[in-house]
Amino acid sequence: MRLCCSHDNLVGLPRDPRADEYPMPTVPYGWYAVLRSAELRPDRVVSLHYFGRALVAFRGADGQAAVRDAHCPHYGAHLGVGGKVVDGTVECPFHGWRFAADGRCVNAPFAVRTPKVSLGGFPVREHSGLIFVHTGPVAPSWEVPEIPEAGSRDFAEPIDDTCRARIHIQEMRENIVDESHFHFIHGQSEPPVQDWRTDGPFAEVRGRISRRVLGWDINNTFDAVMYGPGVMVVRTHGPVLSVTAVALSTPVDDRTSELRMLYYLRKPARAPFLTPALKLVFRAEALGEVHEEVRIWDYKIHQPRPVLLPHEKGIKALRRWYAQFYPSGLPIAPSSDVASPAEAETSDRTGGGGDSTAPSQDVRQRRREPTGSN
Ligand code: FES
Ligand SMILES: [Fe+2]
Repeated sequence: MRLCCSHDNLVGLPRDPRADEYPMPTVPYGWYAVLRSAELRPDRVVSLHYFGRALVAFRGADGQAAVRDAHCPHYGAHLGVGGKVVDGTVECPFHGWRFAADGRCVNAPFAVRTPKVSLGGFPVREHSGLIFVHTGPVAPSWEVPEIPEAGSRDFAEPIDDTCRARIHIQEMRENIVDESHFHFIHGQSEPPVQDWRTDGPFAEVRGRISRRVLGWDINNTFDAVMYGPGVMVVRTHGPVLSVTAVALSTPVDDRTSELRMLYYLRKPARAPFLTPALKLVFRAEALGEVHEEVRIWDYKIHQPRPVLLPHEKGIKALRRWYAQFYPSGLPIAPSSDVASPAEAETSDRTGGGGDSTAPSQDVRQRRREPTGSN
């Protein structure tokens, strides 16, 4: 959560305490985007708050981004409140101790010997204009691949929108396989046809979106690829517009999650001058839909055993895939059986799954081998 978040949608109706109860841990293991690269200038300390922890980000002497705990081990000052970057270290504002990008204390004024203490922190990667951190008990075993649109001249600078919701990030991700909501929130004439595939920490869902505009049905296809629990790239192609949406979901604390959406619009090849107008129109429509969802998320509860209709089986499949990002042995594998219409009416929950575990060629190509950690 950037400390200057643009929306505050957490006001309004009283909340049922059950809306903050989840059977799964707040922070699934995986990679999360915490900043865009441009937001971390070499001379700046940026305060962050994610995973229930106060954090600071800064760049080391070699320019590499570091994300570390914010509180100084000496006497507890917050390094983001008056701290500064000096020679690639972050200097505490209280007594001048300095910490390198790997967290080690490298200088403590008036000390005979520099104390052997460190700031906690995360493995960090930076690409696609984003700074990612990894959470988990062991070194990362997979990577988020590059997002080509982020560096392509064929795409406009992204529309960038950040909001928060009082919901677990898993529920944010379930949204893409919640077929029925596409009609009510996104104006689809009917639920999109979805094709669900998984490959370890990656998953992919494909479908068709049809939207009625001025009496015309405009057909689009979409391809959503999930890279672990916190990163999803949705490519939508259509006769009028092609958009790549990067959905970045990050736990803030045990009640709140952040959703940062970056929309990369492909510039019209024959009329690139139309791009600003297209962005304006798209922004108004897309952000309105997201904020409508956020409002629903703020008040919904987690249903461990939702009553699912046959075409909603993707929710069950996604939960089964997502369980891999929690510590094994936790009783979080949901048994949200898919009900036939008759079963749904009687809440008689029997039935089965339906997800394919055969990865598409695309998903397999996007998977990478482990590269170690910081
Ligand atoms: S509290 Fe940071 S140097 Fe003393
Ligand atoms: Fe949605």
